Amino acid sequence: MRTGLRRGAAGAGAEGGETAARRAGGRAASGVRGMVATARARVRQACGTSALEAGRALSTSIAMTHALIIGASGGIGSAVAQELERRGVSVTGLSRSGNGLDVTDEASVEEHLGRLEGPYDLIFCATGALEIDGASPEKTIRDLTPKAIADQVALNAIGPAMVLKHAIRLVPRREAAVMAVLSARVGSIGDNGLGGWYSYRTAKAAVNQLVHSAAIEFGRTHKKLSCVALHPGTVETAFTAKYADNHPTVSAAEAAGRLCDVFEQLTPAHSGRFFDYAMKEIPW
Ligand SMILES: NC(=O)c1ccc[n+]([C@@H]2O[C@H](COP(=O)([O-])OP(=O)(O)OC[C@H]3O[C@@H](n4cnc5c(N)ncnc54)[C@H](OP(=O)(O)O)[C@@H]3O)[C@@H](O)[C@H]2O)c1
Repeated sequence: MRTGLRRGAAGAGAEGGETAARRAGGRAASGVRGMVATARARVRQACGTSALEAGRALSTSIAMTHALIIGASGGIGSAVAQELERRGVSVTGLSRSGNGLDVTDEASVEEHLGRLEGPYDLIFCATGALEIDGASPEKTIRDLTPKAIADQVALNAIGPAMVLKHAIRLVPRREAAVMAVLSARVGSIGDNGLGGWYSYRTAKAAVNQLVHSAAIEFGRTHKKLSCVALHPGTVETAFTAKYADNHPTVSAAEAAGRLCDVFEQLTPAHSGRFFDYAMKEIPW
């Protein structure tokens, strides 16, 4: 994985990346054909559609070659980077700890994304936190503070929105591409039967709205783009260490495999929507 290199720029690093991508090309070409066939079969199975319909549904799904991951240092971000590379995709990763990119600071997002040239056929935003500044998810509204909500919204909603704003120029206009933001099922209002976790839920509901609106706008100029919010499942990362309780969890590697399968199945018809790791739609 390259970290923050300018795609297509002169320099040993960039050349190394392109060469690696070319080397991977042959492997990827047959791999991609196989993956598309598998994806078609999966769509047929899931939707009960005919082969023809499934083919049509997938006619604009992506054959990924270049991916940009924001939050590449995280449990899910790093596992997705590894999985994509395993599938022959050239990955550029950016992160706060690795490159100093802070998604809560628009100038930082603009500066780091401004150094890249693209195009990327996958841009994946995997940043976020459940606990910020020691504020754990609220059990009751009595625990709620303005600062906790503001911090959550700044990181989990405004952050990905700034990524979408400054990354859209890196997406091809005429080719199939995916922009995906990690949301969380608990951001769904329709699915909220338990309450609690006020600030985190609010921030994730907000990011869902931001992704939905951006998808509508981007769809006017990027007809083959799918811009979506994704729930990764309950994944064993630093993020869940204190909170997974008795929930069934999956390893980051397994979650990454499932998310990459979703990326490969997304088409413009899915844009502006909210899916889980099995590509099951989640209500807003
Ligand atoms: N794990 C789960 O079960 C689960 C479930 C539902 C949703 N999600 C969502 O998935 C996303 C990733 O979760 P994870 O489990 O991979 O968490 P993680 O391992 O804790 O990784 C969090 C990532 O966010 C980055 N980050 C945090 N604050 C940042 C900031 N201000 N600017 C830039 N980057 C920042 C971290 O960067 P540094 O480490 O470099 O500072 C790290 O790359 C989150 O949005 C989370 O809400 C996770």
